[in-house]
This record gives sequence, structure tokens and C-alpha cells, in this order.
Amino acid sequence: MEIVPPDAAEYYARVRSCVTLYGMKEKIDLLIRNIGQLCTVPAHDSGPQRGSRLGDLGIVEHAALALHEGVIVAIGPDSDLNETYSRGMTLDAGGMLVTPGLVDPHTHLIWAGDRAGEFEQRIAGATYQQIMAAGGGINRTVQQTRAASLDVLIEQAKARLNTMLAHGTTTVECKTGYGLNTKTEVAMLNAVALLDMEHPMDLVPTFLGAHAVPPEFAGNTEGYVQLIIEEMLPAVAAWWDENWPGTLFSDVFCEVGAFDLDQTRRILEAAKTYGMALKIHVDEFESLGGAKLAADLNAVSADHIVVTPEADIKALAQSDTIAVALPPTPFGLAHRDYTPARQFLEAGAALAIATDCNPGTAWNENMQLVMALAARYLRLTPAQALAAATINAAYAISQGDRVGSLEVGKQGDVVIWGVPSYPHLSYRFGSNLAQTVIKRGQVVYSARWGGTF
Ligand code: NIG
Ligand code: FE
Repeated sequence: MEIVPPDAAEYYARVRSCVTLYGMKEKIDLLIRNIGQLCTVPAHDSGPQRGSRLGDLGIVEHAALALHEGVIVAIGPDSDLNETYSRGMTLDAGGMLVTPGLVDPHTHLIWAGDRAGEFEQRIAGATYQQIMAAGGGINRTVQQTRAASLDVLIEQAKARLNTMLAHGTTTVECKTGYGLNTKTEVAMLNAVALLDMEHPMDLVPTFLGAHAVPPEFAGNTEGYVQLIIEEMLPAVAAWWDENWPGTLFSDVFCEVGAFDLDQTRRILEAAKTYGMALKIHVDEFESLGGAKLAADLNAVSADHIVVTPEADIKALAQSDTIAVALPPTPFGLAHRDYTPARQFLEAGAALAIATDCNPGTAWNENMQLVMALAARYLRLTPAQALAAATINAAYAISQGDRVGSLEVGKQGDVVIWGVPSYPHLSYRFGSNLAQTVIKRGQVVYSARWGGTF
């Protein structure tokens, strides 16, 4: 999506003059002024906003925000900052809302093909599990992903990343899990690493070899678990060593028809020996005890958490594991049950929200829709939904010290919205409210200029 309308030429000219001025593109200063409502969404004690403290937006009215070398250097009253920081480029927020870039902590970004036919089957009455048991579902996408080249996987994922960025998401977690053999799982990790280099979006990789049992192991889940532990994890650890400087997560789909509690534990304990951080898909359809296991293994997050029993909610609340709700999934499946978010908050848990973007249950790139669904079906307040989509989402992928809030020293990932105040982000739905998206201090999307740069 390379759209460069006339106004963008002016932007590039200004960027070029800054480049000459400072010698390096990274050194461009940016001042965002005339902000009507600035939501800083602060971390609490260098951690997520827990329980009833969720929804602390740290609001500053009539504010300005100054960035230097892609990092936030000052936040304060418009008049003060305007005098001190207007050396580089200035963006006028027009009295509108400004927030941290949204963080999407659970996606299955890399895949080929689609499952539109399964959607028609489901709408006609078939269940997700019936389709999966009949060889469709995840394995249908595995077939299409194995047949695709790395170039095709990257091109299709890039289009989704452009859509995410245009809707205000600036950091995204990406799972493998449509390869289910060593070669294609590693290819998916390569796709994530290459996209992270090539695209303005920051990507955080997760190895999800334990997403489903592939057809060549049908009826032999145990054999596939052995393959994961003995062949895939060592290969992924070697890939990590050579190719990825940051955290690498390992995840398991703990569910009837996928991996049971004991298999989940063994895979994650093996992953832990390589230093990988842990996540688990738990309690999407049936509870196998995965949420309690996540807490016991000190996983960074437990995701889905729809049918989680009260004792497991308590166990999660007493741990550092973040509960990640994925409201687009029950919505996409036309199910009635959503994460009982209020129970999690009453117990004191840290709650985040994500798209679960995937071709089966929830093909949705837009975190604005996730906030709108969370307000209605999880009964989060608009303030809680925004904090769950920013600072808590950042902690759910171990990036809370870098992104998710607007605080001095943090990365300059910022969204200027075409709305005057934060409740609009949950209240309105179905059209894109992002006006300008800034990544590491650079404009990467502008509705006014008609697209993504
Ligand atoms: O999180 N539950 C497992 N994985 C995805 C669905 C993936 C698919 O259907 O392709 C999820 O909903
Ligand atoms: Fe998922």
C-alpha cells in the first residue's frame, strides 16, 4: 500500500530538511502540540495495572508531547513545551485525543489462504470442533501454508500489518503454528524476523508448534509431542540464537482435540529449559486446568480464558501471569460466552485484550474493534479497555518497559485520533478512528494524507 498523495511530498521535503539539519534521519525531533486530551496510561510500579486499578489513563488536558531520536523526552502543558521543543517537525493534533500506540499481544499473523467456506459451514450450524475433528480448521490452513513460498507468506502478512498500523497498532505478537513441521515452523519464524526488519511495526515472535496435531500424526498425538520436544524445540532454540535478539515465546493450544494438560506441561517445561518465555491458549471451549498451569509455570500470559473456573481465576490473580482476553474469537464464532473479565478484575488479576487475528475464528486486524467488544461483552469501562489494549497488552508480551504508555524515556509510538476523548474508542465501532500513527517518532500513517507510508 504505497500511497503518496500531494501533501505527502511536503512531508518528505520537511523530513529531508531535518535529515540535512541533523545529519541522521533518526535524529528528527517531533513535537505533537495542541492535544485536547492526552492519555499517558502509566505503568504501575513498573508493571501492569492490576485488578480494580485497571483504567488509570493518566490524563493531561491541553498537552504537548516531545520526541527526540524516536524516544519521548517531555510531556507537559502545550504552552510550555511549544517554546522549548519546536526545533524539528511539529504536528498539530487539532485539540483531539492522543494515546500510546495500541499493542496487540496475541495474533496468528502468518498464514496463507482463507477459510471462508468453513465460516459458511459454521453459520449453517457446524461447530469449530466438528470442523477440526473432520480434518478442517487449523490443519486446512497448515496445508495452504506449507504450500506457500516465504515470499507469499511475507507479502500476505505485510498487508495485514499495514491494516493494523493504519488502525493504531504499533507492536504486535505473532505466532507460528501453521507449519507443524520443523521446516515450515522455522520458515514462519524467519517471516516474523524479516517483517520486523522491513516493516515499521515491532513484531514479537512466539513458537506455537503445539497448535494442532498435523495429519501425518493423526491418532498419534504423543508422537507429535515427542517431535516437538526432541526436534522442533532444539531447532527453534538454534534459530533464536542466530536470528533474534529479544524474547522468544513458546505457546501451546491446551484444549480437547489439541493438547491435554500433561502434554502442555511437558512441552512448556522443555521450552523453559531453552530460556523461552511461556504463553498458553487455555479455556477457549473446555477447561483442562491450563490457567492454573500457566500460573504454576510462571507463564507471561494465559490467553482466551473464557470458561475458566473460579479457583483458576484466583490462581492467575495471585500470580504474575497476565490474563489475555480475545473478544473477537467468541464474536467471530457467534458464541455467547466471553471472558468473565469482571471476575478476573475483582480477584485482582492483570487483564489485557488482543485480536487473536487468525483465518479460522477471528480474521480481524483492528484493536479498536477489540475495545468496542470488550466494553460491551466483557463489561470493561472505556478507560479499562484502553489500558488493557496498551500498557497491560505490552506487559503481556514482556514489552512493558519499552512501549504501551507515554512516559519519558519510552519509545515514541503514538496515535492521534480523530475523536476528542477516550470513551469514543469503545463507543464507536466499524470505521477507522485513527488519524495519524507515529512509530519511533516518525509518521507512518496519516488519514489526511490518505494512507500508510
Ligand atoms: O486462538 N485456538 C487456537 N488457535 C486459534 C484459532 C486458529 C485457527 O482456527 O486457525 C485461536 O482461536
Ligand atoms: Fe490464538
